[in-house]
Amino acid sequence: MRIHVLTLFPEVFAPFVETSIVGRAVEAGIVSFGFTQLREYTEDKHRSVDDRPFAGGAGMVLTCGPVFRAVEDISARCGPGLTRILLTPQGERLSQPLVWELSRQDELLLICGHYEGFDERIRTGLGVREVSIGDYVVSGGESAAVVLIDAVVRLLPGALGDAASVEEESHEGGLLEYPQYTRPRVFRGMEVPEVLISGDHAKIEAWRRAQAIERTQARRPDLLADDGPVVE
Ligand code: ADE
Repeated sequence: MRIHVLTLFPEVFAPFVETSIVGRAVEAGIVSFGFTQLREYTEDKHRSVDDRPFAGGAGMVLTCGPVFRAVEDISARCGPGLTRILLTPQGERLSQPLVWELSRQDELLLICGHYEGFDERIRTGLGVREVSIGDYVVSGGESAAVVLIDAVVRLLPGALGDAASVEEESHEGGLLEYPQYTRPRVFRGMEVPEVLISGDHAKIEAWRRAQAIERTQARRPDLLADDGPVVE
């Protein structure tokens, strides 16, 4: 997979894409990145990318010109399967099914905004898919892009050593993950559940499934609503 990022702050991505699972995926050739500075597509001497909103209102708005020119230039250098994503709190909420869908694309272009918002024509005129990382506002699309990149890259074949570890995580199959324990068996009087030491694999599997369902019911009943998993 190739991931392009259009941003005013390309430097914030370097430590992230060089570290841990994403860093190893880059080294293994599973994913590659291209970062583009939006200001390179400005045409005035101040290299401005934003302007005051028509009819007034708070803050500045990202202008169309640099974003359109940059997106068109990047797209011309990409294959036809490029998926353009605009990070915005108004977008479709990022979920594990959406992350899986994005992980199956060959090429992504993540467009990060800053300032108070975008000119509406950036949303409507560029064929973008709008994605939000949650119902809160961060100062720019960069932190949202980092979240999206992390979630997507770890699903790429080979990115995690152990494929089974993806399937059993929270939000896979619509449930939160069951509780996990490691040594010691007793820590400050808190014991590891007996079943996990029993060696009875069927019993362990049943316990884990029951715990996952119980935990999901207690913490995130919304996940068990109509379109959630089938709970026996
Ligand atoms: N930019 C600002 N807030 C955001 C959010 N919640 N998701 C994606 N992009 C954003």
